[in-house]
Amino acid sequence: EKPKVVVTRKLPYAVEARLQALFDVKLNHDDRPLSTAELEVAMMGADGLLPTVTDAIDSDLLNVKGRRAGIVANFAVGVNNIDLAAAEAAGVVVTNTPGVLTDATADIALTLMLNVTRATWPAENRLRRGEWTGFAPTAMLGSGLQDKVLGIIGMGRIGQAVAKRCHYGFGMDVIYFNRSPVADPGVPAQAVESIDAVMAEADVISLHLPGGANNDKVISAARIALMKPTAFLVNTARGDVIDEDALVAALQERRIAGAGLDVFYHEPRVPEALRLLDNVSLLPHLGSATLETRTAMGMLAVDNLEAHFAGRPYPARVV
Ligand code: GLV
Ligand code: GLV
Repeated sequence: EKPKVVVTRKLPYAVEARLQALFDVKLNHDDRPLSTAELEVAMMGADGLLPTVTDAIDSDLLNVKGRRAGIVANFAVGVNNIDLAAAEAAGVVVTNTPGVLTDATADIALTLMLNVTRATWPAENRLRRGEWTGFAPTAMLGSGLQDKVLGIIGMGRIGQAVAKRCHYGFGMDVIYFNRSPVADPGVPAQAVESIDAVMAEADVISLHLPGGANNDKVISAARIALMKPTAFLVNTARGDVIDEDALVAALQERRIAGAGLDVFYHEPRVPEALRLLDNVSLLPHLGSATLETRTAMGMLAVDNLEAHFAGRPYPARVV
């Protein structure tokens, strides 16, 4: 008898094919997010759940009466959609998909950085509206990245990948803050003593820290106020790490130069005030959105499930 697994969203074909070969699996061909009641039924009827960032795996769900599932194999590196303390208390294993999405996410941080510093969105919009009147020496000017200071907050895998691209590709100087010391950041970079120091000193700030209660609005109004008026803020981490209202106010009042955002506080809701601004570049949570990366994430989630049911060490266990 194969273990029963419920998958909450449609996954790349190769991942679904492997899941079908290994498990008695319930796939989600329609890709409609499951309701809380449907997630409860899954936790009671299956041996394992394969959810993603859009599924809230909270304490009620982990403690549902008659729970059968012993593993939640998240399709994401971030696990802020899961109550980890409740999972640990309930004895439910949680795994994630680190490493395989590092480059794709760093690439999207660079995309946002280039889009917003070169103001490509308002320029492309002008062209698409048929309003471009031709090359003009002083029109649609952006600012260059060369010799500017990149500030990374959260110098893990993705932060380091962004630092490498910016240092070796664009000649930027790199400073960073990380909660714990980083033995080898993989690139010439200077650690600074606080988030505040990064906010105040960097020309481009890129966020790479985990979401969830510990970092909620860590990029606060007071910290945004420390930024240079010429500085840009880029977020490919989680929307809840920024006080979004404070950021919108700073952008509206042109107290900072711009922002590039791939994640939002209440996804998929993006405040209209943000959508109306021309000093922002906005993307719909595309960090890991390549077929190669999404396939690799799925395969790693399946590896975690396989290890669980075979009693082998997990490739990527969180709790
Ligand atoms: C995506 O947002 C992830 O955490 O993998
Ligand atoms: C710009 O189009 C240039 O040729 O410099």
